[in-house]
Amino acid sequence: MTRETWATRIGFILAAVGSAVGLGNIWRFPWVTAENGGSAFLVVYLFIVLAIGVPGLLGEFVIGRRAKRNPVGALESLSGSRAWGYVGGLSVVTAVALLSFYSVVGGWILRYFVESVAAVGTAGGAPFFADPGPYFDGAAFGAQAVAYHLLFLALTAGIVVAGVRRGIELGTKAMMPAIVVLLVALAVWAATRPNAAAGYAFYLRFDLATVRENFFSILGPAAGQALFTLSVGAGTMITYASYLGEDQSLPMDATTIAVLNTFVGVLAGLVVFPLLFAQGIDPASTGTGEGALFVGLAGAFAQLPAGSLIAAAFFGVVTLAALSSSISMLEIPVAVLVDEYDLTRRRATAALFGLIAVTGAVNGLAPAVFGFVAGTLVDLLLTAGLAAFLLFVGWVLGRDALAEFETGAGPLARRFATPWLFAAGVAIPLFLVFTLLTGFGLRAAVGFWPTVALAVVVGVATFAGLRGQKSVV
Ligand code: TRP
Repeated sequence: MTRETWATRIGFILAAVGSAVGLGNIWRFPWVTAENGGSAFLVVYLFIVLAIGVPGLLGEFVIGRRAKRNPVGALESLSGSRAWGYVGGLSVVTAVALLSFYSVVGGWILRYFVESVAAVGTAGGAPFFADPGPYFDGAAFGAQAVAYHLLFLALTAGIVVAGVRRGIELGTKAMMPAIVVLLVALAVWAATRPNAAAGYAFYLRFDLATVRENFFSILGPAAGQALFTLSVGAGTMITYASYLGEDQSLPMDATTIAVLNTFVGVLAGLVVFPLLFAQGIDPASTGTGEGALFVGLAGAFAQLPAGSLIAAAFFGVVTLAALSSSISMLEIPVAVLVDEYDLTRRRATAALFGLIAVTGAVNGLAPAVFGFVAGTLVDLLLTAGLAAFLLFVGWVLGRDALAEFETGAGPLARRFATPWLFAAGVAIPLFLVFTLLTGFGLRAAVGFWPTVALAVVVGVATFAGLRGQKSVV
């Protein structure tokens, strides 16, 4: 059976943007930004998107398009080594971990959507209008949360089972424009709310002193969020690029995707922060955490005449954004089963639905598990995953990777090709290892320089181990 490909160039870009734009932008970004001091976090995060995210995206694209296989098969076939196949197997673990909590959050969104729709035209409005905080606390975990998680996962599987062109490409083409139009409208409306200015100040005021003071505590979460929002480190982009033809400029596509994703992320902040401050909720001090979006926006919508209708539109659009991301998580292990184990797409999707139904249910029942998976485990897996992919690019593909710059890429992209390869092979993995060690609390325990030293040791050991490969870096 021949492998499917994207029907159009824009189809691939929209699918990748659809993967990137999701709950990471609308739900996780305001939450993590608020926890880490607002604007100072934003600066570090934007820097990492540019310096690590774009080269990282490009690395995954190069692997995927060269191999035309899923992450496991790609690393194995390009290196000719079983061991790299196991490294690729990490992406399956990451995808399952990701979707296990993502589907629970998707379920929350879906629930708020369904309840808003049901409340349109009723006197009291949506049920979460009256007491948004306690309502969210009651809804977030438990049997109903699991039911909505299963519903969300079923929608995800329904799109994936339809295939690359008829499922993923068609779906994202319809969903993406709706998301942008509605967010712009909401941002304009949010600007008219009282006290919106305080929200902008918290979010956008650039203050170098705060950045300097908090740089190292911001670094881990900022890196984690940057990778999460761009969907890098899990093999999603390897998988999506494996359905590409040869005629596209990968550097151009990586940049476009990062820019569009950042635009939607910043836009979502322009909706969420003014609305939080309009109700006197200070996102840094309430500790609403993962409920910030639900509590903040529910309260804002409640004050409106047609509140339920606006809430329905908002949560409807966020559901679409979440689905265009969750399908890209499910597609990773589905592609592995289809390519490597000759399962039909149907069977592969069904098997994974069964698995993630269970792991997701655990997240939906146990807040502590959810907190660990969503807040820590995923950051670590994505950071380690991206480091592995980029080391692969630098030390296994080596100069062969540059061949991917010959087709479709312009002179500018070609100028950057060699510096990119060095960044991918050396600088970025070192930075990621440093971030990982920081994430494990090592810097806090032993101090900055010992952590740097250890990162260098781990890095050099890794490079030494990789020397035997056909690297030319
Ligand atoms: N980027 C998506 C978001 O912001 C989530 C996502 C989809 C993802 N696929 C991924 C994150 C792969 C990491 C890896 O919501």
